[in-house]
Amino acid sequence: MARLKIKDILKSGKAGDEVVAKGWVRTKRGSKNVNFIALNDGSTINNLQIVVDVESFDEAVLRDINTGASLAVTGTLVESAGSGQNIELNAREIKVLGKADPEKFPIQSKKHSLEFLRENAHLRFRTNTFGAIFRIRHAMAFAIHKYFNEKGFNYLHTPIITASDAEGAGQMFRVSTLDAKNPPLTEEGAIDYSQDFFGRATNLTVSGQLEGELGALALGEIYTFGPTFRAENSNTTRHLAEFWMIEPEMAFYDLKDNMDLAEEFLKSCIKYALDNCMDDLKFLAQRLEQEEKNKPQDQRSMPLIEKLQFVLDNDFIRLTYTEAIDILRNSKPFKKNQFQFPVEWGIDLQSEHERYLVEKHFKCPVILTDYPKDIKAFYMKQNDDNKTVRAMDVLFPQIGEIIGGSQREEDLTKLENRMKEMDIPVDEMWWYLDTRRFGSVVHSGFGLGFERFILFVTGMGNIRDVIAFPRTPKNAEF
Ligand code: 4AD
Ligand code: MG
Repeated sequence: MARLKIKDILKSGKAGDEVVAKGWVRTKRGSKNVNFIALNDGSTINNLQIVVDVESFDEAVLRDINTGASLAVTGTLVESAGSGQNIELNAREIKVLGKADPEKFPIQSKKHSLEFLRENAHLRFRTNTFGAIFRIRHAMAFAIHKYFNEKGFNYLHTPIITASDAEGAGQMFRVSTLDAKNPPLTEEGAIDYSQDFFGRATNLTVSGQLEGELGALALGEIYTFGPTFRAENSNTTRHLAEFWMIEPEMAFYDLKDNMDLAEEFLKSCIKYALDNCMDDLKFLAQRLEQEEKNKPQDQRSMPLIEKLQFVLDNDFIRLTYTEAIDILRNSKPFKKNQFQFPVEWGIDLQSEHERYLVEKHFKCPVILTDYPKDIKAFYMKQNDDNKTVRAMDVLFPQIGEIIGGSQREEDLTKLENRMKEMDIPVDEMWWYLDTRRFGSVVHSGFGLGFERFILFVTGMGNIRDVIAFPRTPKNAEF
């Protein structure tokens, strides 16, 4: 008999069907005569209840059925008398595929803290919470590819190892095969990267954008979806050293087109989650509701599913950075001096400012545009005021910045001048500047931080809980 997935058994199984189910034991409870095992195989948040007539099984087999053990169960489906499920499996044969010593297996059937589970990231997939998160993460990756495919974008694979610094921020991980203890040196005493594997210094990419622009100025519309790396030493709940980014880049799009795309794209993925991940979302929503109960009324956030629906149903608010600064300066927290970072024109907005705008002032996702050029990357299109650039950041409740993007500077001279002002080596970037030399066009793009988006959709509070193996300062154990 072929094994059926628990998701399919629960969906289409009928009383009287003979089935084989395989999975891991979540809990075992019962009396002297009958045991109930909750079996989960990862295909759904819901467990299959296995009913075990104690008398018909070897005591030794029953003793090995503990939380975490893996089983193959053959039996007959029956209608369930208990609440919570329609159907359950009357076991005729149980094979313990792999034991899990209850003295040693760290994931027990009680509720574990997220901190504890982070320390056991190799086993946390076995919990309901992380099962739900990683199924939703998968569904969102699929929704992203689906969205761009249907819009005619090409998925471009940009390199992981690169010699350029796309964001000009210098927070890069070096890739080198030189002997770290005894590297070859130049006459001036610097490390001689000409003797390195690629004949030059290389890094892990911080963004696929620059290569993405090359693709867009030929294919029209492309997107990347890959890992990106930043060696920034920020130990926050919103930063990873290795995160996944989605970067669409479009020829003939101006900033308004770019904003329209970003809004439609986010909404389409959220709609996909509501249409396809309801069981997992409901589970996470209940989990959150428990947590929120411990907070004072005025600090509680909107229930998860309502929040997702709210984003779908409302237009994002669009305003300039300068307008946002005015709002912040006239806000209560500013007057009472409650922002940790003082607000003045020219500052890089901190997440407390972003979240104030989104959560307290507008109570809606916000797109801020036209940031000061000095806090943004060299490639952004310069406005005529000589002070600002055609940047856009999308700010979300609970997250702050979820998307960063811009219209790109398509004018060769302006771009070269800006690069010189910012000490970016114009000669080394000849290949990038060729797009402006030959057939340059208006174009735009943005980057969505995949984990920040998953944080929003799952309602989780720490970015380490939405990526399987988080990479953060001093943490790369598994
Ligand atoms: O704003 P950023 O730095 O923009 C870029 O990299 C552009 N090249 C994107 C583009 O226009 N194609 O990063 C984009 C997004 C941020 O809005 C944030 O969501 C996410 O990437 N991000 C991070 N996510 C997790 N950990 C980090 N350390 C992140 N840094 C940025
Ligand atoms: Mg940014």
